[in-house]
Amino acid sequence: MPLVTTKEMFEKSMKEHFAVGAFNVNNMEIIQGIVDAAAKENSPVILQASSGAIKYARIPYLRKMIEAALEEHDIPIALHLDHGPDFETCKMCIDNGFTSVMIDGSKYDFEENISLTKKVVDYAHAHGVVVEAELGKLAGIEDDVNVSEEDAIYTDPEQAKEFVERTGCDSLAIAIGTSHGAYKFKGEAKLRFDILAKIKELIPNTPIVLHGASTVIPELVEKCNKYGGNIPGAKGVPDEMLREASLSGVSKINVDTDLRLAMTGAIREVFAEDPSAFDPRKYLTPARAKIEETVAHKIKDVFCSSNKA
Ligand code: G3H
Ligand code: 13P
Ligand code: ZN
Repeated sequence: MPLVTTKEMFEKSMKEHFAVGAFNVNNMEIIQGIVDAAAKENSPVILQASSGAIKYARIPYLRKMIEAALEEHDIPIALHLDHGPDFETCKMCIDNGFTSVMIDGSKYDFEENISLTKKVVDYAHAHGVVVEAELGKLAGIEDDVNVSEEDAIYTDPEQAKEFVERTGCDSLAIAIGTSHGAYKFKGEAKLRFDILAKIKELIPNTPIVLHGASTVIPELVEKCNKYGGNIPGAKGVPDEMLREASLSGVSKINVDTDLRLAMTGAIREVFAEDPSAFDPRKYLTPARAKIEETVAHKIKDVFCSSNKA
């Protein structure tokens, strides 16, 4: 089947209470690991590329590799721009076959975010492409947010309703306590499910997106560290919380860090065990297998999207 937008998979996710995994891609092994897992689980999947990933892999390569994935597998696959920084980048992706784009206006004030998002929505919709927008700020522990600032960074539910109505965006990324990278929490992991519930109450038909949602799987971190890495004190969102989010109205869950850790740990292990190895297939084969295993676990045990293709 050809590339799809996220429209149908999100409608199904809201009706049947599961989340679609959105995995960041930038090379062949990552793409293959993800789609092989999704196909085995018979799950829809979103492949997303950031502007950094596009710069690295280059659009024609990304597109052709994803075309190859569609040739091999009969599952719904959407190609999405992750964190589009401006209108021009969104337009470039829309003009080059992406079926979904994110315009990340979260760094702007409310009105500016609305006008930028609306501009992208108008162009995207005229070309059959869907748009994810973001409202709220994803602060990590490195941002050192104090308690009185906390409420200001979470997404305000009333504002979310107004934002969606005024922009016409197709899905909305919200801030409820997640953050990007491997260091998400200092102490206990905590997400504001009360805010999610309020947002779902006010805009029940808008698919909700969770960024910064890697678990920072302890086994993957340990493997990196065991074989020469230095990633101390890393902490992510526990599987139980992501499962709860998947069952409570989150339609798209973004994962990049866990894939980076899976790949890096597998490669480090090969080099540590066999310093004479220098054939890339020798270390990229286990790296791809670890990505497939990691994605399959998320789809099956966490996002509940197996057999939802
Ligand atoms: O949310 C950001 C993603 O992890 C992509 O990261 O901009 O380094 O490609 P990147
Ligand atoms: P993680 O860093 O938690 O994997 O988040 C990825 C993400 O949100 C991509 O947009
Ligand atoms: Zn993100």
